Amino acid sequence: KLTVRDIFEKKSELIENDIEIMAWVKNLRDSKNIVFIELSDGTCFKPIQIVVDKELENFEEVRKFNLYTGIRVFGKLVETKGAKQPIEIQAKEVELLADSLSDYPLQKKRHTFEYLRTMEHLRARTNTFNAVFRVRSLLSFAIHKFFNERGFLYIHTPIITGSDAEGAGEMFQVTTLDIENPPKNEDGKVDYTKDFFNKRTHLTVSGQLQGEAYSLSHRNIYTFGPTFRSENSNTARHAAEFWMMEPEISFADLHDNIALCEDMFKYIISYVLENAKDEMKFFDSFIEKGIIKRLEDVISKDFKVMTYTEAVEILKQSKEKFDYPVEWGIDLQTEHERYISEKVVNGPVFIIDYPKEIKAFYMRENDDHKTVAAMDLLVPGVGEIVGGSQREERLDILEKKIKDNHMKIEDYKWYLELRKYGGVKHAGYGLGFERMVMYLTGMKNIRDVIPFPRTVNSCDF
Ligand code: 4AD
Ligand code: MG
Repeated sequence: KLTVRDIFEKKSELIENDIEIMAWVKNLRDSKNIVFIELSDGTCFKPIQIVVDKELENFEEVRKFNLYTGIRVFGKLVETKGAKQPIEIQAKEVELLADSLSDYPLQKKRHTFEYLRTMEHLRARTNTFNAVFRVRSLLSFAIHKFFNERGFLYIHTPIITGSDAEGAGEMFQVTTLDIENPPKNEDGKVDYTKDFFNKRTHLTVSGQLQGEAYSLSHRNIYTFGPTFRSENSNTARHAAEFWMMEPEISFADLHDNIALCEDMFKYIISYVLENAKDEMKFFDSFIEKGIIKRLEDVISKDFKVMTYTEAVEILKQSKEKFDYPVEWGIDLQTEHERYISEKVVNGPVFIIDYPKEIKAFYMRENDDHKTVAAMDLLVPGVGEIVGGSQREERLDILEKKIKDNHMKIEDYKWYLELRKYGGVKHAGYGLGFERMVMYLTGMKNIRDVIPFPRTVNSCDF
């Protein structure tokens, strides 16, 4: 069975032959003696044009097809010299496969992304979302390809977990207890020993900790899967369910980590530019002018590296009015991140060596005892796209950090053990997959790069 993509790709073989195609009516122009149908099956960005002559026995039926009617067409593929589309099919048979009602919600006109969010089950049929989700799919493949070519092990870390990987407490609880009427202890607290796992459990916020265990067995690994955060941030860059890609490398420090991240970043951009040409041209024309050129620039230059302390100095000296005042020790806000990557660097920039107080417990403390070997990659338009670090491999320091963060040491017993037995230097990072899709497409809202987004107050489809 041919797809529309096949027709364009195998054009030279198929031309002047009779072919059969099953797809949906994307557009229909009707004049008295002839009907032009733009036929699309979602496999490629371009529709194929069908010409239906009034001689066809069911011409009157064809004329009345509504948008998104499913049809089978049999006819001759011909070249159309000088026309907008390079090829078309001259129909010999048109068969109705599935009717579409006349009130089809996606009529031919531009709809706002807000409106399309009310129909997550249909919006993938529009040009924009067709292109976004093809890029999303290609990007995922590019990530696997990159790590596979470098001999990394792909490890499936668990979704349900007993430990908080970030120590930030932003987790969704998983329970089989009757939450209306839970079993209680003598002291009146919920008795989690009666829960499915005999303890409290959550959806994972990151596969990193389990990834570290596998890095310390297989050296270079990555995990890539869904992660969940109950952050109450109703922004265009936060989702409650998002995908994260996290490599972990052993016998490696922060600088090895930065080098890997930069290589990966450039590789996956090149892959998408190369393999999604039509889609990227569409984004360049309709979503973000000049995006292709900007991405080409990114892959041709070295990324800047700047310490947190330097970044804070630059922000303090800038004339920009920030909503959130800048001072050494603050967590950089999106406005600061974007200022640095957009106005100062005008490209991707790694910020390293953040104050230890604002970063996760597992990051390696630097010799100044004030900062940790952290790295965030900031990019224009998005802000933080990657977060990573060299990990604290020294048992005593890690133990103290867990205690100081008021985390339960029993939950991290296994994690600490990794430091007792061959706990060599290791490092890793997490790429926010949706933010990468936003960066590549120019889409401005994370809700528009996830097929069925889950965000605060929204889980309808
Ligand atoms: O900086 P984060 O929190 O780092 C980690 O989770 C580490 N365990 C990663 C590691 O070192 N293995 O998250 C990593 C990235 C962020 O830079 C951001 O791109 C994305 O994940 N991210 C989110 N994306 C969408 N919605 C959210 N709520 C996100 N939170 C983080
Ligand atoms: Mg982060």
